[in-house]
Amino acid sequence: MQQIRVVSFFILSFVLLSVIAQFSDAKIVRRTFHVGNLTITRLCQSTVITAVNGKIPGPTIDVHEGDTLVVHVINESPYDLTIHWHGIFQKLSPWADGPNMITQCPIQPGGSYAYKFNVTGQEGTLWWHAHVSYLRATVYGPLIIRPREAYPFPKPDKETTIILGEWWNDNVVDVDTQAVLTGGTPKISDAFTINGKPGDQYNCSKDMHRLTVDSGKTYLLRIINAAVDHQLFFKIAGHSFTVVAIDATYTNPYTTDVIVTAPGQTVDALMVADASPSQYYMSVKAYVSSNSPYNNSTSTAIVQYNYKTSTSPLPLKSKATMPVMPAATDINTAHRFYTGPTSLVRSGNPTVPLQVSTHMFIAFGLGVAACQPQQLLCNQTTGALAASMNNVSFQFPTDRSLLEAHYRGENSVYTADFPNKPTVLYDFTSNKISMGPFTEKATKVKRLRYNETVELVLQNTAILGTESHPIHLHGFNFFVLAQDFGNYDEFKARAMYNLIDPQVRNTVAVPAGGWAVIRFVANNPGTWIMHCHLDMHLPMGLAMVFEVEDGPTPDAILPPPPSDFPIC
Ligand code: C2O
Repeated sequence: MQQIRVVSFFILSFVLLSVIAQFSDAKIVRRTFHVGNLTITRLCQSTVITAVNGKIPGPTIDVHEGDTLVVHVINESPYDLTIHWHGIFQKLSPWADGPNMITQCPIQPGGSYAYKFNVTGQEGTLWWHAHVSYLRATVYGPLIIRPREAYPFPKPDKETTIILGEWWNDNVVDVDTQAVLTGGTPKISDAFTINGKPGDQYNCSKDMHRLTVDSGKTYLLRIINAAVDHQLFFKIAGHSFTVVAIDATYTNPYTTDVIVTAPGQTVDALMVADASPSQYYMSVKAYVSSNSPYNNSTSTAIVQYNYKTSTSPLPLKSKATMPVMPAATDINTAHRFYTGPTSLVRSGNPTVPLQVSTHMFIAFGLGVAACQPQQLLCNQTTGALAASMNNVSFQFPTDRSLLEAHYRGENSVYTADFPNKPTVLYDFTSNKISMGPFTEKATKVKRLRYNETVELVLQNTAILGTESHPIHLHGFNFFVLAQDFGNYDEFKARAMYNLIDPQVRNTVAVPAGGWAVIRFVANNPGTWIMHCHLDMHLPMGLAMVFEVEDGPTPDAILPPPPSDFPIC
């Protein structure tokens, strides 16, 4: 079997290379990431952080659709490291996907690994981030894929990237370790950031991002939610936006004065500098869908009209106007935005598959489980927080990655019995629910034949309170057919299905105490994690994995791992 794989891989590589050669403008883009520790000062405190090339946010990767990207990651930090290319399909390159212990063992301190993949069939704003421990709090940056031809909207005069982050004054690996040891929630962050800077609303903070605009010009804002544990509201005083893409898929123009994003999501929006020339705050604060404690601070940046191009004099700096932000718990504003845009249907883009071969109903959320042996500071009486999907709390393998085990045909580290539905049905979203059924810690995958069409009902549970979880699927985009509050009801849901122009995403914020229905085609062999993109829920087990088998043709066969593949 392996020999067939290797031979088909070489035949396939040859075919691919000849195809690439025909489109001679497709380039190989090479980058080097030196990942190391450095001391920086934010909020008047110095903190040791891990960062790429000494910068936070890390370098922007800018490519064209069809290019091949080779990123040489050199781990000079004291931590195990992986990098994930969030939203990239990784078609036939699952070894470059990056989630720790799913598609690779981490790059150990002193080690290196070249992530190599094609960026084909997708364009827009994505990003990259560390996918181990809490390192993505400081190890992240934009990944922009430009179209080969024109945008399907009027060409903006300028483009700018706005990447939203979350900041701890503490070492973030310690924050994560402490939460895992106690089986509780991690310490709340100290600030949000805009392009790495908290802004002027925090005690002892001067670092603020500035965006200079010319009156009358149109700007394409590429907004990325790279926060770790918070969904975010985003506004600019005196301005409104036209959304043209979400998660690197084009949308019909959607006008709004507030943008809402969950961690992992991106929004491309046009903004016309049509306010009276002055200074305006850009503000970011949490959208909170649960009763848990949260970071209620506001991060700011300044949009400043260019006085050289402006006809009227600018007022003084202190006059910058603040946008009126929604209340942190404004679930209606969030839901309106999350369900508002529809996708732009263009010829050549995949349409919604109408026949479904695998139906799954996944009930997921938080719960409590017995303390694990490694949770040394866990309260044995109350137990540890544990999250689950269909009563399975995902456990990451420790001695080899799932993809390697899958490739070598070893079933020792996982079982393929992830259930298609929860063990018992109950009133998932009732606020009377105190504790759910038993949660099992296990490494279970759902095996899919190549090219199966999968429909998932993602049902949030109310155990320990309701909360909107941003569910992210690696390796695929999916269609969001419908979503709403309460328990999923097949009859009502089907009447709501958008099969014409539903949103196409890689991360969906499933409504708090509600559900979403998504569909995707399993056209990419490998092991692909689906998980909550609130990072604190990942070690708790809010994840599962799809194991997609090889298909019948050479272009559907998992290639062997690259020669520099990290070993555990
Ligand atoms: Cu953006 Cu699995 O992550």
